[in-house]
This record gives sequence, C-alpha cells and structure tokens, in this order.
Amino acid sequence: MKHQPEKPRVVTTVAEMRQLVQSARQEGRRIGFVPTMGALHEGHLSLVRAAKEASDFVVVSIYVNPTQFGPQEDFAQYPRTLEADLDLLAVYGIDVVFAPSDQEMYPAGFDSWVEVGGIAAPLEGRCRPGHFRGVATVVLKLFNIVQPDIAWFGQKDYQQALVIQRMVADLNVPVEIRVCPTVREPDGLAMSSRNRYLGPESRQKATILWRALCEAKQLVAAGQKDTAVLAAHLRSMIAAVPGAQIDYVAFVDPQTLSPVRQVDRPVLAALAVRIDGTRLIDNELIAP
Ligand code: PAF
Repeated sequence: MKHQPEKPRVVTTVAEMRQLVQSARQEGRRIGFVPTMGALHEGHLSLVRAAKEASDFVVVSIYVNPTQFGPQEDFAQYPRTLEADLDLLAVYGIDVVFAPSDQEMYPAGFDSWVEVGGIAAPLEGRCRPGHFRGVATVVLKLFNIVQPDIAWFGQKDYQQALVIQRMVADLNVPVEIRVCPTVREPDGLAMSSRNRYLGPESRQKATILWRALCEAKQLVAAGQKDTAVLAAHLRSMIAAVPGAQIDYVAFVDPQTLSPVRQVDRPVLAALAVRIDGTRLIDNELIAP
C-alpha cells in the first residue's frame, strides 16, 4: 500500500501557537512563516518550499481575514478548502498550520488598527478602501503570534509586500520579509485563489492580463518609453475583451508606486481588471 504523508498539525488558538513557537525557539530552531488565506495553489506552495529551505520550523497560516474585504467584496464567497489545503501541505513536512477562528483573531472589543501611509494609498488602496488597513492589522497580529524570523510573500501582490515591508520597518518588527516571484499557469495567468471563480470562457479571457503585460514589455523593448502611450495601448487591448472591466493600468516607480512618465529606468506595470466580475491583479517589472 502507498504511504500517505501525514497532514500537518493544525492549531487554532493563539495560546497553543505561542507555546509551540516558544519550544521551537528554545531548541534553537529558525521560524519560517507563510501567511495565506488558504485555497492553496502552486504560488503558495513555492513560498512553502522557500520557507522549508531557509528555516527549520515552518508555520503556514490559513485564515480568510474578514477585515481586508470591503462590504461589496467576495468575503462570503472566498473559497475555504482547509482539508484539501492540508493534503497539499502534507508532502512538505511543515510543522504547523495556524487556522484560527474569527473569534480568536478578533474577539469582542477588538479595536486597534494598523494604518500604513502613502505606499498603501494608490492602486489597490484607491480601489479597495480599507483593504491594506485590514491586511496590515492581521499580518502584524500574525507576526506577533508566530514571531517568525523570516516571512514569505508573493510578488503577485506587489503592493501588499511593500506595505508589509513599510510596516515592519516603521514598527520595528523583528522579521525579515522575503518576496518570491509570481507563479504562472502555462498560458501566463498569475496563480490566484480567485482564479477558481472563473468558468472556462472567463478563464480564457483572463489571459489578457499577462498578454497586456507582455505587450508592454515588447513595446518598451521596441523603443516606446512614454507610459501614457503604453497605458492607452494596454487599455484598448483589454477593453477589446468582452466582459473585461479595467480598475487600473499603471506604470509606477517600483519602490514608491508614484506614477512614472518615461520608462527610462525599471518601472512596475500593474493591472487590476475584472473579468466577467472576477477581480484579478497582475504586475511585471519592465526594464528600459
Ligand atoms: O495575501 C494574502 O493571502 C493575504 O492578504 C494575507 C497576507 C494572508 C493576509 O490576510
């Protein structure tokens, strides 16, 4: 009979999580942490592999954080697939999955928030008011609970990684943030838990995000450096896809996220597009 790898241990309380981390620390182990909202895919698993390689006590959190969703967003619909996630994680031999309840994370009376400034304002911040407040708050809480030496995030959520880096630097949180490249499907679509919302036709249309980013790269390589021209080109390309609705097409400085006029240095091209109602984001660094 084929040996099934054992599912990781699931911890649901802050007290137990702290105890396990404390023992691991006493044994001199380096704590690695991958925060997720579950519905795991290859993008998450690439972070888990990186954590496994660089640390010797790996915690993955699975928590669909209500405070980072707007009232009209997909919190209720967000896929919750804990058992399947545990099966996926089983082969990696991670130490703990932290999967707290809402009550554990936000008990009655909870009323403290982390507001990151300018870096959280444009792009996702503008389209999703309050989103980064929820992200920064839950991530700081998770860092305080897990007390990791290193934590991993994906480049697909580029602005999120910058927000977390800003928060960690400003609030002296003793954790190193590492960012791993976006993992893509063979046709270029960035892996995302929200891709599960896409039916076959919408899934096909969703390739427009990556195709648009590739087009921008090619235009820049061919000498077009004017970001207004590039953005207009991408917008018309995306608008030609039925059911595609643009939230933003932006060319920004990769560190500050301020708009850039000319691609005369590395620039981040960032997109947010709704495909038949499913909101997808993607980005790519473009060199001049
Ligand atoms: O990127 C995510 O999945 C979430 O924003 C995070 C970092 C787990 C916080 O809820």
